[in-house]
Amino acid sequence: MTLRLLLLFFFGFVSTYAQTVQSPSKEISVNFKVDAEGKPLYSVSYKGQAVIIDSNLGFTLKNLPPFNENFIVTNTKTTTVNDTWKPVLGEVAEIKDNHNELRVSLLQQSTKRKMDIVFRVFDEGVGFRYEFPKQDNLNYFIIEKELTQFNLTGNHKSFWIPGDFDSQEYVYNETRLSAVDNDKLNVNNGIALKTVGGRYTIQSPLMLKADNGLYINIFEAAVVNYPIMHIDLNVNNFSLKAHLVPNALGDAAYLQAPFNTPWRTVMVSSDARKIVAQKMILNLNEPSKIDDTSWIKPMKYVGIWWEMHVGKSTWDYSGSQNAQNQQSGEAIKVPHGATTQNTKRYIDFAKQHGFDGVLVEGWNTGWEDWNGNWKEEVFDFVTPYPDFDIKAISDYARQQGVKMIMHHETSGSVASYERQLDRALENMVQYGYPAVKTGYVGKIIPRGEYHDGQTMVNHFNYVPKRAADYKLMVNSHESTRPTGVHRTWPNYIAAEAARGNEFNAWSSGNPPSHETILPFTRLLGGPMDYTPGIFEIKMSAYKQGSTEQVQTTLSKQLALYVTLYSPLQMAADLLENYEKHPDAFQFIKDVAVDWQDTKVLEAEPGDYITIARKAKGSENWFLGAITDENARECKVALSFLTPGKKYRAVTYHDGKDAHWKNNPTSFAINSQTVTSKSSLKLKLAPGGGTAVSFIPIN
Ligand code: NOJ
Ligand code: CA
Repeated sequence: MTLRLLLLFFFGFVSTYAQTVQSPSKEISVNFKVDAEGKPLYSVSYKGQAVIIDSNLGFTLKNLPPFNENFIVTNTKTTTVNDTWKPVLGEVAEIKDNHNELRVSLLQQSTKRKMDIVFRVFDEGVGFRYEFPKQDNLNYFIIEKELTQFNLTGNHKSFWIPGDFDSQEYVYNETRLSAVDNDKLNVNNGIALKTVGGRYTIQSPLMLKADNGLYINIFEAAVVNYPIMHIDLNVNNFSLKAHLVPNALGDAAYLQAPFNTPWRTVMVSSDARKIVAQKMILNLNEPSKIDDTSWIKPMKYVGIWWEMHVGKSTWDYSGSQNAQNQQSGEAIKVPHGATTQNTKRYIDFAKQHGFDGVLVEGWNTGWEDWNGNWKEEVFDFVTPYPDFDIKAISDYARQQGVKMIMHHETSGSVASYERQLDRALENMVQYGYPAVKTGYVGKIIPRGEYHDGQTMVNHFNYVPKRAADYKLMVNSHESTRPTGVHRTWPNYIAAEAARGNEFNAWSSGNPPSHETILPFTRLLGGPMDYTPGIFEIKMSAYKQGSTEQVQTTLSKQLALYVTLYSPLQMAADLLENYEKHPDAFQFIKDVAVDWQDTKVLEAEPGDYITIARKAKGSENWFLGAITDENARECKVALSFLTPGKKYRAVTYHDGKDAHWKNNPTSFAINSQTVTSKSSLKLKLAPGGGTAVSFIPIN
C-alpha cells in the first residue's frame, strides 16, 4: 500500500485517485479514477486513441443508500496471468489466458460498505466486474440499477437489435448510433413474443465501427445469478448505460455478499478478425466444474424438425399444428412427424452417412395446445405419442450406433419443467439419449419473469448443471444468449439465442448479411445451433405461391458449417433434399465440428468472413467463406496448411450465374492438389459462399 493510500485510509479525506493498467501488448490502457465526489470512473484507450471516455461505475440499491459515490480507495493490487488451458470442445485445442489485472478496493465512507472493482486487460480488450466482499455493513441486498456506462467517442456505425427482455431472434440493423430507434422497426418479423425495454434500448454484444477504423464490441461474460445486461443508448451523446433485465417486481438482482457480478467487456482492435478470434469471454469464465468430461462429445445430427417448419408434417399427433398453415389460418391437416417409422428412416440415414445423432421433435404428448396460452402444465417430458415407440426406437438407434437427441419444449413453463426435470432426465438415461434440446417458446411461468431476468439466468445455468449429474449434454433454444458459461459447464454444448435458419422457413427471414454479423455478436458468447445446410432454398417447393426462402445460395449453406462455430451442427434439410444433391452433401458429411486450430483469414462485420479450421485429431482442414448481398472475389493464401504436405482441395462454390434470390442452387465443385504455398481464388455470388475441404494425400 502506498503512503498516499495509507493517508486516504486513515484520514478518510476525499481526494482524487487514478491508476492505469495496460494489456500485455501495451496497446490497450484502462484508466481508473475516483473523482472529487468519490465517484469511481474508468476510461479505455487503444494505441493512445480514446475508446471509452470517463464512464460511471456503481449501483443503486433498493431501500439502501446508492453505491456509486463517496468512495475512497483503500488498496490496489496488480497481477499478471499467463496461462494456457484446454477446452473440452472448441475452435482451438489450447487457449492462452494472458492478462494484467488491477484490483481496486473501495470503501464508501458514509456507509462503511466495501466493494472491489477488478479490471482484466487482455490484448483483445478489457473485462471488469464488481466484487462485494463479505462484510458487516452489506449482507443481503437488491440491485435496483447498475450504473455502469460505456461512453463512446462518436456516432459509430453499429450492428444492433432491440433490447428485448424475451428474445434475441432479430435481424441486425446496420446504422449509425444516432439512427437507433426501436419505434421505427418493422415488427412483423416472425417473433411471437416481444418485450422491448425502451425506444433506445439495444442488446449486447453490440458491435461498433468507429470512423477512425477501430472495431469496438461491448458485451459481458460469466452471467451467473444475475440478469442479462441490455444497453440504454443516448442517441445524442453516444453514452451507453447498463440496463439490467428486471424481474416480475421490477427489481434487477437479489444478492448476498460475498458476490461477484458478471464481467462487463470492451473489446477493441483495428483488425476486425481479432474480434472474431477473441478468447477473452471464455477466459473470464470459471474453469470446468465437471471433472470427467469424457462423455462430452461433438455431434453432427439430422432430425425430424425442418419437415415441421416447412409444413410437411406436424409436432402434434392430430396434425392440426401446421407451422405453415398457422400463418395463413388455413386448417389443413398434415401427418404427425415423430412416428416410429419416420424416426427409423432418419436413424438409417444417419448411419449410412456417418451422422452422430437424430433429433426428434413432437415425440411427446401436449403439442395440441402448447403455444401462446401461458398455460402451466403442458408437457410431461416422459409420455410419448402412441405412434412413437420410444423403447423400439432407442433399441434400434443403439443397434445402428446412432445417438438420439431428446427434445424438451417447455413452452416457457419453467415452473413445470423444473418440477419434472429429474424425471425427464432419468427418462433420457433410461432410453440412452445423451443430449437434450430444450425450448422456451412463449411467456415465462413463473408469470411476470422474462427470459433474460435473474430467475431465468439461474434456470438456464441450472439445467446443464443438473444434466451433468446424469452425464447429459444440453442445447437450449430461446434461452439467454451465452456469455462463455460453457467453459464452466462444457456439457452446455450449444444454444440458439439468435435468429436461426428456421426463420427462413416461415417469416421475412434472415437477410444475406445476417451470418456475416453473427460471428461479431452472438457467437462471441458461445456456439450457436443455427441449423445450416438447407438445400431446398425456396419454400414454394412445399407450398404453392410461398415467397419465403433461405436468403443464401446453396453453396453458402455449406460454408456456414465453418464460419458459424458449433460443436453441435445439424444437417437441417429433409433427407430427400440431400439425396437429390449427393455432391454438395459430401461436404456436410466430411466437415468436422471440433477443432484443433482456427484462422480467421478475412472479416468485415455485415460484409464478409473467411475462416479456415483444422479438425481435431486429424490433418484435415476446412475453409468457409461467405459474403452479404454483394458478390465478392478474393484470393486466399493457404499458408495455414502444414508445409511440405500435399492436400486434395475440393472447392464447393457458387455457379457463375448464382444469386441468392434468383438462382440460389447454381453450384459447382472442383478439385485440385495444393500445398501451403498455393493460394485459392474464390468467387462468391451475391448472398453466396464457398466451402473447401483439404484432405492430405501424402
Ligand atoms: C423454436 C425452436 O427454435 C425450434 O427449433 C423448435 O422446433 C420450435 N421452437 C418448437 O419447439
Ligand atoms: Ca427459436
